[in-house]
Amino acid sequence: MASSSNEWSNLRSVIVGRAKGSIFPYENEKVTHSIMYQEFFHEFKPHNPFPEYILQAADRELDQLGIKVQRARDVDWNKVGGYTGSMARDGLMVVGNHVIEAPYSWSCRKQEIELAFGHILADLEKDPRVRVFRARFPEGRDTIYDDDSEGSESPFAINNSRPAFDTADFIRVGNTIVGQLSHVTNPAGVDYLRERLPEGYNVQIVETKDPTAMHIDTTLLALRKGLLLYHPIKCTYESLSSYDVFKGWEILPFPIMPKHRTEPPLFMASAWLIMNVLSLGNGKVIIEENDTEFGEWLKARGMEPIYCPFRHVHSIGGSFHCATVDLIREDDDQLASD
Ligand code: ARG
Repeated sequence: MASSSNEWSNLRSVIVGRAKGSIFPYENEKVTHSIMYQEFFHEFKPHNPFPEYILQAADRELDQLGIKVQRARDVDWNKVGGYTGSMARDGLMVVGNHVIEAPYSWSCRKQEIELAFGHILADLEKDPRVRVFRARFPEGRDTIYDDDSEGSESPFAINNSRPAFDTADFIRVGNTIVGQLSHVTNPAGVDYLRERLPEGYNVQIVETKDPTAMHIDTTLLALRKGLLLYHPIKCTYESLSSYDVFKGWEILPFPIMPKHRTEPPLFMASAWLIMNVLSLGNGKVIIEENDTEFGEWLKARGMEPIYCPFRHVHSIGGSFHCATVDLIREDDDQLASD
């Protein structure tokens, strides 16, 4: 069964990624230079594994999430060509009882969902209540990086010549899916997503000021119904409060300025991964074990932080939200009240 429409109500079943075998993603130089940090440019080349100590520790961290989980398969990404099985949220989204696979823009990720999560999708497909939408990728040459295509004036590395998105460029806020355009998500991708949503759901694209935009889950955090935290450099209160979906919500800048760290290295994500948490429902929130200041803030607001070490997963590109896909969350009254 799959049934989930927000980021905060009681979590019953979840997919958790797997780090083993992950390699640095390599798409082309343009993508590397648009999104990654200069000091690590040299790592983003074909067949370059993440350091083994990071992968082993990351899998220990992923193993201990303690919820009823379905795990990604063990894949040797260096052999098949790819990136990782640890960032499950990048390519899979559950909206209501629809399970949607991302038509990834990165060609190195095209096989990721099938290889790492295909067994889980095959199982879900057997349930008549669930609809699984698998992505189809262009046969032959991909035009997504062609400079002369429609949309090439956009500030992003990809054009609009075929639908592309990563599911991590969206968060679910009841019957509105909130998303951003980015270096991996184009307007055709947003239309493609709209066509696959269950009836009664819509997409709201929000403005984010982010020259390296890739994934919205370090920019917006719907911590519980009615409480939105935002990245104070990428968003403004004025802009967020103008969207209907957040009418009546408390909208706050994220309360802590995260500190950059160098060990283990943050190869391809920022210290704002502090916002990339997983809510279990009833105010319980999984956060990184070092983020105690944020934990205290949650407690002061009547929520309960659950500390887990996750810094090696960070090195591969994400934190708790990225590494998971909620399959089942209990309904809250969101849809009924809207
Ligand atoms: N680009 C974001 C940052 O650097 C990282 C987002 C990670 N999210 C994910 N779903 N992999 O802060």
